[in-house]
Amino acid sequence: MRISDSNLLAAIAALGVEHKPDVSLAQKTSLEIGGTSDVLLIRKHESLPGLIQFLKGNKVPYRFLGGGSNVLLPDGELRWVVLQLARQDPDVRFEGNNVFVDCAADLGRTVTTCAKHDLGGMEGLIGVPGSIGGALRMNAGAYGTQIGTYVREVKIYRAATGQLETLRGNEINFEYRHTSFAPDDIMLTVRLELPSKSYSEILQGIRICNEKRRASQPLNQKSAGCIFKNPPGGSAGRMIDELGLKGHSVGDARVSDRHANFFINAGHATQSDMLALIADVRQRVREKFGVELEEEVIVWKEK
Ligand code: EPU
Repeated sequence: MRISDSNLLAAIAALGVEHKPDVSLAQKTSLEIGGTSDVLLIRKHESLPGLIQFLKGNKVPYRFLGGGSNVLLPDGELRWVVLQLARQDPDVRFEGNNVFVDCAADLGRTVTTCAKHDLGGMEGLIGVPGSIGGALRMNAGAYGTQIGTYVREVKIYRAATGQLETLRGNEINFEYRHTSFAPDDIMLTVRLELPSKSYSEILQGIRICNEKRRASQPLNQKSAGCIFKNPPGGSAGRMIDELGLKGHSVGDARVSDRHANFFINAGHATQSDMLALIADVRQRVREKFGVELEEEVIVWKEK
């Protein structure tokens, strides 16, 4: 969506928010699918309550985009203005075993920065693309580690109250790829408490996870990681593989040859290519295994 009304633009600037017109959103997502929209870049968390109140008051539809690694956007001009958080500097701060991390920080870089301070626990998350905020919202996990285990406090913009609030870790439910945050809450900063470990021991763990990931996942292709959640006790990837669907495609959306729960943008895939592939695979899995797969990727639907 484009904002061209000069009064609106002046009010947005007065809130300390930067307006970036007509941004290509494909470049902000790991699938490299998505059209264009104006982006409002929020430099100070304190601007958020006023900004959102203002957008609602002026009937400007908006959506928040984090690291873009687990999202499937529509093509063409989006009907929302897109909000993004500018990364704070510094984005990681240490106090003993407590680490205060800006939610716009990169997850992988945070894991290695913590390692350099002899703080471990999150080795399994190395190689998971995306921001700390996105990892928190989905309770990102891999190789036996889930980020929720280490969360002690989260500062959020809480949609229900329109205010910035700080939640204690024990007030948040972290489940498999699901949390109790509301869909329109925005993660701002988190305090993690990490166990002390030597740098060399952490590096060893990081190396092992990197190797496992390289051996089983298509890392240098355009994807949003796993497209479906695993059903209880099962594996979406194994079921799709058993159906012989590796390489199966709709347009340029293709089931990865390496890991069947990764769907790849093999060229110029559109959202509808990807949605058609998701629907097709879901139906085949339902028919063969009687299992209804649930998407893990967040889909921004136009309607
Ligand atoms: N498998 C196949 N064929 C495939 C893919 C997997 O037979 O094409 C088999 C594997 O051989 C293995 C089983 O299925 O026996 C499970 O596969 P894998 O170890 O790759 O784990 P996964 O359950 O498919 C989950 C997470 C990944 C995470 C890995 C490692 C989900 C949906 N996926 O994958 O997370 O990296 O474990 O811990 O929970 C993501 O969330 O986007 C993601 C990639």
